[in-house]
Amino acid sequence: MSDANLPALPWLAPLQARRAHYADLRLRLSGLLHGETDPIAAYATVACELHHAFAAFHWTGFYRVLPNGSLIIGPYQGGHGCLRIGAGQGVCGAVADSGRSLRLDDVESFPDHIACSSSTKSELVVPVIRPGGELLAVLDIDSDHPAAFDALDQAQIESIAADLGSRLAAP
Ligand code: SME
Repeated sequence: MSDANLPALPWLAPLQARRAHYADLRLRLSGLLHGETDPIAAYATVACELHHAFAAFHWTGFYRVLPNGSLIIGPYQGGHGCLRIGAGQGVCGAVADSGRSLRLDDVESFPDHIACSSSTKSELVVPVIRPGGELLAVLDIDSDHPAAFDALDQAQIESIAADLGSRLAAP
């Protein structure tokens, strides 16, 4: 769970070291989640492991999709998050609507961004989708550093979210 081998700004570490760090994380998650199909248990575990794996991740958590398309907070790590997000609102709502990830180097560049914390500078949001195509949740990671996420982070977090979607039972 430690990121002792990575600098505080993980994107400054060599790509190979970051890949290895993600590989360790994925291995841990696969062991911890083995046989687990409960969404809340799985979200809590992923939020905890991800949050503590990278020093630049300052808020890491899930918003669950409600039947009316709005979002409600799920397990997270970091300061308190907004409890509910209306359908289509904010970065999370946009990702839930489109089913596609959004990576923002500067949250101010997204006019509809919802600032749960004024210190947030950059954000990565990816969908959690079951194999049949049902959207369960979005995984939101915020950083107080600008441009904290790059293509490697996006690909790895998308893959973690896809694994998650494929193991969960219907809510
Ligand atoms: N920034 C998000 C809201 C969630 S918080 O950042 C935890 C958004 O615009 O949807």
